[in-house]
Amino acid sequence: MGHAGEATPSEPQDEAGEYLSRNPSRLDDVVARVRLAAPDTLVTAAEEAQRAQREWARVPAPVRGRVIAGFGRLVEANKESLASLVTREIGKPRTEALGEVQEIIDTCDFFVGEGRRLYGQTVPSEMPDKQLFTFRTPVGVATIITAGNFPVAVPSWYLVPALLCGNAVVWKPAEYAAGAARAVAELAWRAGVPAGALNLVYADGEATFRGLETALDRGLVDKVGFTGSSAVGTRVGELCGRYLQSPTLELGGKNPMVVAPDADLDLAVEGALFSGWGTAGQRCTSLGNLIVHRDIHDEFLARLDEAVRGATIGEPTGEVLYGPMLDQKFADNFERILKDIQPHHTVLGSNAVGRISDDAPRAGFRGDHAAGLYYHPVLLDGLRTDDAIFRQETFGPIVGVTTYETLEEAIELGNAPGYGLSAAIYTTDPATAFRFREGIGAGMVSANNSTSGAEAHLPFGGNGKSGNGGRLSGMWVIDQFTRWQSLNWDFSGKLQKAQMDVGAIEPEWDYRLPAELGGQS
Ligand code: UN1
Repeated sequence: MGHAGEATPSEPQDEAGEYLSRNPSRLDDVVARVRLAAPDTLVTAAEEAQRAQREWARVPAPVRGRVIAGFGRLVEANKESLASLVTREIGKPRTEALGEVQEIIDTCDFFVGEGRRLYGQTVPSEMPDKQLFTFRTPVGVATIITAGNFPVAVPSWYLVPALLCGNAVVWKPAEYAAGAARAVAELAWRAGVPAGALNLVYADGEATFRGLETALDRGLVDKVGFTGSSAVGTRVGELCGRYLQSPTLELGGKNPMVVAPDADLDLAVEGALFSGWGTAGQRCTSLGNLIVHRDIHDEFLARLDEAVRGATIGEPTGEVLYGPMLDQKFADNFERILKDIQPHHTVLGSNAVGRISDDAPRAGFRGDHAAGLYYHPVLLDGLRTDDAIFRQETFGPIVGVTTYETLEEAIELGNAPGYGLSAAIYTTDPATAFRFREGIGAGMVSANNSTSGAEAHLPFGGNGKSGNGGRLSGMWVIDQFTRWQSLNWDFSGKLQKAQMDVGAIEPEWDYRLPAELGGQS
């Protein structure tokens, strides 16, 4: 994702120095006003979290699970309101916003049960009268820095398991989603999460970085979770490495979709439309490059072009494929991306390129285009592998198309940009799908489904420039928020030394089977 944690000096502030989080579909609507903190606020919050964590960890895990259950139920009871706030603050269409809130509920449902599991193991010892055990222990204080394109669901992927496992959290959400973040924190506190165990801090990227550096240096932070751009993730990773910490990094994507010659083309068009232009292309799992077999290229592109031209764009409260860009800085970023369109590209998908305006209206636009940050969809044919649009995450409503001949070539094209978050293939041949899965470097692969829309209980995460291998969601995320501790308990009454005092039963090494049992002599 191209954003969280990046400082922009021109951030919108009022005279009192407060940051204004605006409705991107109606820029005169201020959704939240917050004061952005200086670095020492993050340090103080980490101190507070460290104090609270010891007590929170002493609450039995099943009881912490009940708190998570309460959080899930409170979110469910407030589903409509929270989804409306998400739509208003970041412009996500209503049905998607409801889905996003559902993802929190699903995450809570999963972890309620984990409160009664969090299993350790009993392990046999190599010596008598000795027993070995393993325990999962909380990591301690987790600083979680999240993006605003999934302002409530993605934070819950961190907060819910972190808290369930007995950690305390300092959460720094994206400032342009400050209102939604406050609502989520409020629901968690009301469910019984102690204030000290969940600290909400608003800050810009640079202040966050400096505060985190000091907090790490003072031993106040034990884990960092970051969802945002690969560039900022690299800085966070370097910083954590200095303190011998492995952060959980969920970064950008350049997610490929391969359309094989035997694909159901209507299905592939539907999947490409949803994952390429849905959410205005602002998911980390959004479709980046379409890799289409030569033989079906013309037919597929004609159908996709028609679908993109016919898609409804407009106010996110209505039935639209997509609404505005998340915030001004995403609109600015998209304007920069559009400059990378080259003369060798064929531009399809709409009647114009750039911002939807009176001079460049969009057919069928629903609502008032002048009120918000709305952009024409772009379908770009003739992409070459050295094009910036082929290699870099675009984070906007643009998809590039290139062609292939052999599956090997398609896999190579899919892996070429060096990201590895999500990938999809449309084919009716299972062998093609399994070969693609084996060759593609993505952490998440779809066959006959789009690149976006992962379910909440599968491991979520990427490889290469998309992350450092950590996985969120389901049982896999527990490894991010606990550490294994072993216990060896000797009740023999004497010192038994491992590897040295171990009994052995020697086999008769020279024995060979006799003739009556099939032996040779
Ligand atoms: C993101 O964009 O950071 O798989 C997360 C999906 C969503 C999550 C996207 N469930 O598209």
